[in-house]
Amino acid sequence: MTKQTFRPDFLWGGATAANQLEGAFDRDGKGLSVADAMPGGKQRFTILGSKEFDWTIDPENYIYPNHRGIDHYDRFKEDIALFAEMGFKCYRFSIAWTRIFPKGDETTPNEAGLKFYDGLIDECLKHNIEPVITISHYEMPLHLAKEYGGWKNRQLIDFYERFANTVLTRYGKKVTYWMTFNEINSAFHFPALSQGMVQSNGGGDYQNVFQAWHNQFVASSKAVKIAHEINPNIQIGCMIIYATTYSMNANPVNQMATLIQNQEFNFFCTDVQVRGKYPAYTQRTYEKYGVDEQALEITQEDLDLLAAYPVDYIGFSYYMSAAIDETLSEEEAEMVSGNLLGGVRNPFLEASEWGWQIDPEGLRIALNELYNRYEKPLFIVENGLGAIDTVEADGSINDDYRIDYLRKHVEAMADAVADGVDLMGYTPWGCIDLVSASTGEMSKRYGFVYVDLDDEGNGTLNRSKKKSFDWYKQVIETNGKNLA
Ligand code: BG6
Repeated sequence: MTKQTFRPDFLWGGATAANQLEGAFDRDGKGLSVADAMPGGKQRFTILGSKEFDWTIDPENYIYPNHRGIDHYDRFKEDIALFAEMGFKCYRFSIAWTRIFPKGDETTPNEAGLKFYDGLIDECLKHNIEPVITISHYEMPLHLAKEYGGWKNRQLIDFYERFANTVLTRYGKKVTYWMTFNEINSAFHFPALSQGMVQSNGGGDYQNVFQAWHNQFVASSKAVKIAHEINPNIQIGCMIIYATTYSMNANPVNQMATLIQNQEFNFFCTDVQVRGKYPAYTQRTYEKYGVDEQALEITQEDLDLLAAYPVDYIGFSYYMSAAIDETLSEEEAEMVSGNLLGGVRNPFLEASEWGWQIDPEGLRIALNELYNRYEKPLFIVENGLGAIDTVEADGSINDDYRIDYLRKHVEAMADAVADGVDLMGYTPWGCIDLVSASTGEMSKRYGFVYVDLDDEGNGTLNRSKKKSFDWYKQVIETNGKNLA
């Protein structure tokens, strides 16, 4: 038997999110989103996580880099032309909910917002790039967070359904690939981004987090139903953060802790969204987090919907792995940071400048763990290295460290495919430099395309190609064979 390689129709591309690159935060009828209320800088999550934070926008004291993004709103044609030059087969982006329903609870959509995405989608299709659309990526209407209390409020199901129905009806005949919520499991550690809940409106209480998840699961199933009714060819997935999790040693205490963390963080949301039912460990998890099951609003009709409309594929982001050692005290453990969840330092791994532990083999493990559990197609819709880039005197940007990171991860993907995993595609994160989600910085760059803009908002916004641009072009051209 010959070794399996990437499918001939493998979806090579790149990924972004509206709030991190579009800018034009108040143009053409757009309303404010939760992302518009997130200050820039390394203190972003500390501010959002504080007891006092109540979504107030305070331009006197903070800067808001998402308001301007990288001005993709006006420059998307130039950006998509660059993606086409790299040979992208697909482009993952999100629709800003607030361009379509500025406050979220309106009954009529904003035509100017819909027109913007007509243009964006048509531009992709003109270049034979398949759009891959995230319906909601960390940018729910601020009004729904402030006035309705975020996703713990069941009314949001109807608002999301209207939004999903509007965009699926408008674009569903020409867009095949969709995802319902970005990194839905991120709420476990930080419900501000995907559930619109901070401490001051219930984000610190797991009762609310699990209720919000349930509401999102129902909303997601409704979107799956609508999508398949509009166009049976649509493939609509869920999307999670996957952090491969290791026990630091063979101590059964750590092995058990690892198993539980996997269930709670990596698998809980997919277990519901892929298998269409709550997993066996749900009750134990509720007990552990003080969730009163009787007080959760979960109807039989909801459960029937979840069972009837599971997702078609699993989209996930993978940046780093985590390690667990429960036997160490807080003083003894050397903790590291990561994509919303950290862990103890793994001595076998190097970390990025932001402390995320780099682990390509962990991606092969992730792909095997997910595929063997669900046997549904997998789509790596985010991966990449956030790093500081230097522009040389001649204008070149020699990001060999990024090439090295991506090469090792593509090799791991190829190994996983040879292991038997059904992998649909790969869209590295921030294919063009954009505003970081966790810190609001521009200097944490992921792109193949450099954008001249700094953390304070200075710069020409001019685009230029990094060394990784040509490298990725060749990877796509050879369907992942030439990684040199
Ligand atoms: C993912 C998010 O968690 O990681 C993206 O879906 C985010 O929105 C990406 O940008 C990278 O994280 P950061 O904090 O480096 O931008």
